[in-house]
Amino acid sequence: MRRSLRSLLLLSLAALALAAREQRAGYACKDRSAAHGWRNLGPARPDRTLTLEIALKQSNFEGLHEQLMLRSDPESTLYGQHLSQAEVEGLIHPEEETRASVLQWLADHGLGEEVLRWSSAGDWAFVTVTVELANRLLDTEYSIWHKDGHTILRSGAYSIPHELFAHIDTIQPTTDFSIMRKHGAVPMTDEDVSALDLSTASSEWGTCNTTVTIDCLQKLYKTEGYFPRAVEVNHLGVAAYLGDDANLDDLNEFLSLQRPEAVGHANFTTVLISNGTNPQTNLSGTTESALDIQFTTGLTWPTHITFYETGGTRPHLFDAANMTGSANFLDWVTYVSSLPDDQLPSTFSTSYGSEEVTVPIDYAQRVCAGLAALTARGVSLMYSSGDSGVGYANASFCVDPNNLSQKMFLPNFPASCPYITSVGGTQNIPNEVAVTRFASGGGFSNFFGRPSYQDKAVSKYLSWLGSDLTGWYNASGRGFPDVAAQGDRFQIVAPAYLTVKSSNGTKIGLVGGTSASSPTFASVVALLNDVRRSQRKPALGFLNPLLYSRLYLGLNDITVGSSFGCNTTGFPATHGWDPVTGLGTPDFQKLVALMEFL
Ligand SMILES: *[C@@H]1O[C@H](CO)[C@@H](O)[C@H](O)[C@H]1NC(C)=O
Ligand SMILES: *[C@@H]1O[C@H](CO)[C@@H](O)[C@H](O)[C@H]1NC(C)=O
Ligand SMILES: *[C@@H]1O[C@H](CO)[C@@H](O)[C@H](O)[C@H]1NC(C)=O
Ligand SMILES: *[C@@H]1O[C@H](CO)[C@@H](O)[C@H](O)[C@H]1NC(C)=O
Ligand SMILES: *[C@@H]1O[C@H](CO)[C@@H](O)[C@H](O)[C@H]1NC(C)=O
Ligand SMILES: *[C@@H]1O[C@H](CO)[C@@H](O)[C@H](O)[C@H]1NC(C)=O
Ligand SMILES: *[C@@H]1O[C@H](CO)[C@@H](O)[C@H](O)[C@H]1NC(C)=O
Ligand SMILES: *[C@@H]1O[C@H](CO)[C@@H](O)[C@H](O)[C@H]1NC(C)=O
Ligand SMILES: *[C@@H]1O[C@H](CO)[C@@H](O)[C@H](O)[C@H]1NC(C)=O
Ligand SMILES: *[C@@H]1O[C@H](CO)[C@@H](O)[C@H](O)[C@H]1NC(C)=O
Repeated sequence: MRRSLRSLLLLSLAALALAAREQRAGYACKDRSAAHGWRNLGPARPDRTLTLEIALKQSNFEGLHEQLMLRSDPESTLYGQHLSQAEVEGLIHPEEETRASVLQWLADHGLGEEVLRWSSAGDWAFVTVTVELANRLLDTEYSIWHKDGHTILRSGAYSIPHELFAHIDTIQPTTDFSIMRKHGAVPMTDEDVSALDLSTASSEWGTCNTTVTIDCLQKLYKTEGYFPRAVEVNHLGVAAYLGDDANLDDLNEFLSLQRPEAVGHANFTTVLISNGTNPQTNLSGTTESALDIQFTTGLTWPTHITFYETGGTRPHLFDAANMTGSANFLDWVTYVSSLPDDQLPSTFSTSYGSEEVTVPIDYAQRVCAGLAALTARGVSLMYSSGDSGVGYANASFCVDPNNLSQKMFLPNFPASCPYITSVGGTQNIPNEVAVTRFASGGGFSNFFGRPSYQDKAVSKYLSWLGSDLTGWYNASGRGFPDVAAQGDRFQIVAPAYLTVKSSNGTKIGLVGGTSASSPTFASVVALLNDVRRSQRKPALGFLNPLLYSRLYLGLNDITVGSSFGCNTTGFPATHGWDPVTGLGTPDFQKLVALMEFL
C-alpha cells in the first residue's frame, strides 16, 4: 500500500509539474499514463536519441475487418480467398490528407521526408530524433523511469497539434509502460519433479503423464503417422524476443532423443529483426527458444521453420546497454508485414506478452490492427495466453491503475487481440486438465469488445458463471484463450540444465508455461495447413470464426481446473468454452475430417 501511495504522490507531483508548464499554443494532450509503480528518475539528457513511432490513421480498417470476417467465415462463398499484400495495404494506407498533414508538421520541426522510415502500408512512420527535439515536437519532457530492475525512457504524457488528432492514432514510446514477458519456459525444480507421481507410467502412455515428449504429443493430439507433404509452400514461423536464442546443436541433441529420423536433416532459418542476435555458441540456447524451436521442429519436421528474433529493447536507446524494457511487437509486425505474399509463413507461434493494462489502448489497438492485416493475408497467429491466470498471485497488483481502489483482473496482450488465436495450457496425459503448477492465462479484455464469432460460446459461459466474480472483469470484453494444449513437463535440451541437472553433463530438463502450449497448438495448425496446401487449397488463415462455428467439434473439451490468480480461484473451466482452456485441445484426425468440407 505504501508503494501505491508513493507512486500516487509522485504521479500528482509529475502532474503538477506538467500543469505548471504552459500548454503550447494549438497543442492538446493526446495521452497520459498513470505509470503505475514506475519511479521517475528525472529528465533525460537532451542529446540522447530515440526512435518515434507515429501511427497514421488507417483509411479503412473497417473495410479490412469486413473482408477478413467474410473470407474466414466457412459459410461464405469467399471462404479461404485471402487478400493479397497489395489489397490489404490498399485498405489501410492512410489518406493523402493524413500523410500530408503529418509530413508538414514534421517538416516544420526540421524533419524532412528523407529522414523518415515507413511501414510497408505507409501507416506507421519512424523517425530517430534527439530527446531535445522530441520534447519540442510533443510538448513534453522525456524522463528516465525505473521499476523492478527495468530502466526506460518515456515522457509519461504528450501533446500534439489539435488538428492532428484526426490523423494520428498514437505516438510511442511515450505512454507505453508495458514490460514484455515470456510466458514461461518455467523450469521445473527438483522439488517439482519429485512431486510428480511417477507411478502413473502405463503400458499405453509410458511416462507421458510426467514427461512430455514429441511421441506423447503426437499420440495425444493424433498427428502420429502424418508426414508433411507441402513443405515447399507451407512454412511455420516462431517469433522470439528478449535475447532468446535457438541453438542448432541443442536442437539436434533433442531430436536424437525424441525424433531421431530428423537428426542432421532438420534446420531452421534465422531472421534477425531490429538488431536481434542468435549466436550459436555451445552455451547460447535459452530455455524459451529451445522449447519453441525443438517442439515445433519435432512435431512438424520436415516443415520449414523460420526463427524471427526481434532485438531492440524499447525505446531504442542505442547508447545505453543497460536500458531495458519491453521489446517491440511493432518491430516484428512491421517487418513481417513487409514480406511479399509468397514469403509469408502461414502459421506463427509467439510465447510473449504484457499485461494489457500497461499498454496504452490506442497503441494496443494499432498493434492488433497490424495483426489483423497479417491474418487477412491468410496467416494463422497463435499467442500463448499467459502464465498468471487472471493476474498475479500478488493481489495488490490486480487494480485499475487509474483508480487503485478498483480491483481488476489483468488480461494479457496480444492474447486479448480478437484477430489472433490465444492458447491456454493443460497438463496430465491422457486425461487433460488445466495446468496447476502455474495458471493458464485467461479472462476478458478491457480494450477489445467481444467479437461476434465467440458471442454464443462466451454468453453461455457467462450465464453459467453467474455473478461470482462480478466487479473483477469486463463481461463485454473479448474472452480468451480460444484453445489450449499441453503446457507443462516438456522435456527440452538447453544449457540451463548444465547447472540444474549436471551430474552426467546432460542438458535435459523439464519446463512449462503456455510458452509450451502455443508452439504445440501452432504445430498442429501447421500440419492442418500442410493438409490444405497439399490438396491445393489455401491455408486456413484466421482460425477463430472456423473454430467457434465448426472445428470445436474436433477439439477435446477440457472441463477441470481454473485460471486462478489475483488471490482468487479465478474462472473455472467447464463444458464448452471457458476462459482457462478455451474450446479445448486439438484432435488432428477429427480436425482433418471436419476440414474436408471447406
Ligand atoms: C497423471 O498425473 C496426475 C498427477 O499429476 C494424476 O492425478 C493422474 O491420475 C495421472 N493420470 C494418469 C492417467 O495416470
Ligand atoms: C542451417 O541453416 C543455416 C541458415 O539459416 C545455415 O547457415 C547452416 O549452415 C545450416 N546448418 C546445417 C547443418 O545445415
Ligand atoms: C542497429 O544497430 C546499428 C548499429 O549499432 C544502429 O545504427 C541501428 O540504429 C540499430 N537499429 C535498430 C533498429 O535497433
Ligand atoms: C563449450 O565450448 C567451450 C570452448 O569452445 C569449451 O571449453 C566447453 O567445454 C564447451 N562446453 C560444453 C558443455 O561443451
Ligand atoms: C547504467 O549503468 C551504468 C553502469 O553500470 C550506471 O552507472 C548507470 O547509472 C546506469 N543507468 C541507469 C539509467 O540505470
Ligand atoms: C505484493 O506487491 C506489493 C506491491 O508491490 C508489495 O508491497 C508486497 O510486498 C507484495 N507481496 C508479496 C507477498 O509479494
Ligand atoms: C474507484 O473505485 C471504487 C471501488 O470500486 C469506487 O467506489 C470509486 O467510486 C472509484 N473512484 C473513481 C474516481 O472512479
Ligand atoms: C468494457 O469493454 C467494452 C468493450 O471493449 C469497453 O467499451 C468498455 O470501455 C470497457 N469498460 C471498462 C470499464 O473497461
Ligand atoms: C543423464 O541424466 C538424465 C537425468 O537424470 C538421464 O535422463 C539421462 O539418461 C542420463 N544420461 C546418461 C548418458 O547417462
Ligand atoms: C487474499 O484472500 C484472503 C482470503 O480471501 C484474504 O484474507 C487476504 O486478505 C487476501 N490477500 C490480499 C493481499 O488481498
